[in-house]
Amino acid sequence: MQVTLESKPFAGIETEALVSYVFEETDPVQGRVAEIDQSAGGLLRKLAKSGELTGKMLEFTLIHAPAGLKAARLLLVGAGKREPFNSAGLRKVAGAAMRYLKSRSVKNFALLVREGDATEESAQAVTEGVLTADFEPDKYKTDKKNDKRIESVLIVGYSEAKRRAGEKGVAKGRIIADSQNFARDLVNEPSNKMTPSILAQKAEAMAKAAGLSVAILDEKKIAELKMGALLSVAQGSVEPPRMIVITYNPPAAKPRAPVIGLIGKAVTFDTGGISIKPADGMEKMKYDMAGGATMIGVMYALAALKPAVKVLCVVPSTENMPGGRAQKPGDIQTAMSGKTIEVLNTDAEGRLILADGVHYAKQLGATHLIDAATLTGAIVVALASVNVGVFGSDQAFTDKLLASAKAAGEKMWQMPVDDDYREFIKGTVADIQNIGSGKGGGATIGAMFIKEFTGDSPWIHLDIAGTAWNDDAKLWMAKGPTGVGLRTLVHLIMSY
Ligand code: BES
Ligand code: ZN
Ligand code: ZN
Repeated sequence: MQVTLESKPFAGIETEALVSYVFEETDPVQGRVAEIDQSAGGLLRKLAKSGELTGKMLEFTLIHAPAGLKAARLLLVGAGKREPFNSAGLRKVAGAAMRYLKSRSVKNFALLVREGDATEESAQAVTEGVLTADFEPDKYKTDKKNDKRIESVLIVGYSEAKRRAGEKGVAKGRIIADSQNFARDLVNEPSNKMTPSILAQKAEAMAKAAGLSVAILDEKKIAELKMGALLSVAQGSVEPPRMIVITYNPPAAKPRAPVIGLIGKAVTFDTGGISIKPADGMEKMKYDMAGGATMIGVMYALAALKPAVKVLCVVPSTENMPGGRAQKPGDIQTAMSGKTIEVLNTDAEGRLILADGVHYAKQLGATHLIDAATLTGAIVVALASVNVGVFGSDQAFTDKLLASAKAAGEKMWQMPVDDDYREFIKGTVADIQNIGSGKGGGATIGAMFIKEFTGDSPWIHLDIAGTAWNDDAKLWMAKGPTGVGLRTLVHLIMSY
């Protein structure tokens, strides 16, 4: 799908639909919407008076053959109250318009940004909104005869003077949305088509095409490096594990800039192992590699955006299966760091593979660590599918990430990880155990376990178990993989 910026006046634009947005306020017909109203002979004001056009968030008002416009339709999307409205709102409005028009077989539309919104940031948000809204998780449906597709989107409302800024935003938005959709494609694959080896191949192909260095460690190399925690999870499966390492090394990294290590959990299927999960809903556990996919997607974006910071991406990947060689509850494993772990529950496997991932990222030179993982059901209980759970050992670093999340329009909520939780994972027969001894605090306990392997490095853990997969379609996004976290991490890295 094409996205371009056009600085011609909106009234003369020939398109199947002109889209704009309306605020929920005493008079929703103001500014550019009042200009449209004038050419449409006062129709919008009439609709507002009658209560049909209110500006409530994502209310749709579709008008066919609007007078005074070259467009075949006029679509007004409610944007909610003017005050908290920002680029996150605009991204949703653009995405919702896209899905609304697509479902009505429209092939192209023009989105008119409101007065004051003709910025680089808005153009980026609109581009990200429409491209991520276009993603459909139906790759394996064979009958695509009746598929509806939007072919092109114009962004309008930019004067000649603002054009360059707008075009920059479109280019950036395209890179980020393509990376997010790339990550979503990886997550959407079922486990028979997305084994650790296949994930590694796809990551390697992406990295080579994008000009990033990449190393894939196979099971032999993983054993040589004594990654005992990763191996313990992998031993129950016939599919061998992989450790994927992608490096972005800019020629002129800023002096004193951190080396960021991105570690992503990539369990391509989580049956729970011997501590097996119930059958109901188990099919969803193909998305247990979403953290890894997000990190690989971030690298894809960085290769094009070229920040002046070195970034290492480390993705431990395995299946978690209850095979004849599978580890059993009570087994003691030695992680790469040398710490011993009593595995009391084989379903708490994400923290095991991340233990080695985090340690390896440090060994490779990462000074600041961020991991993303579909780690716990407990985070779903705490935050549902609304917020990503954020855990951090360094408040300044965590605050920077939370600010990036705001700017990128991804909802994240900080959770505690302090030493009072340490005794929950203190081991009886080994150094630590992989689940808590008490009750409650499951998401924090998972985070505390990973923290044991981060030493003094500033570290952030993102628990995306509740947010990496949409069970229901949203007006601006299809059901299925969301690619959550990618935009925040790209924003964070670009801000150094
Ligand atoms: N992959 C799961 C976490 C998960 C749950 C992801 C729901 C997405 C949706 C993880 O490996 C797991 O099984 N965690 C256990 C930990 C428990 C055994 C301490 C959990 O949360 O139940
Ligand atoms: Zn599990
Ligand atoms: Zn898991």
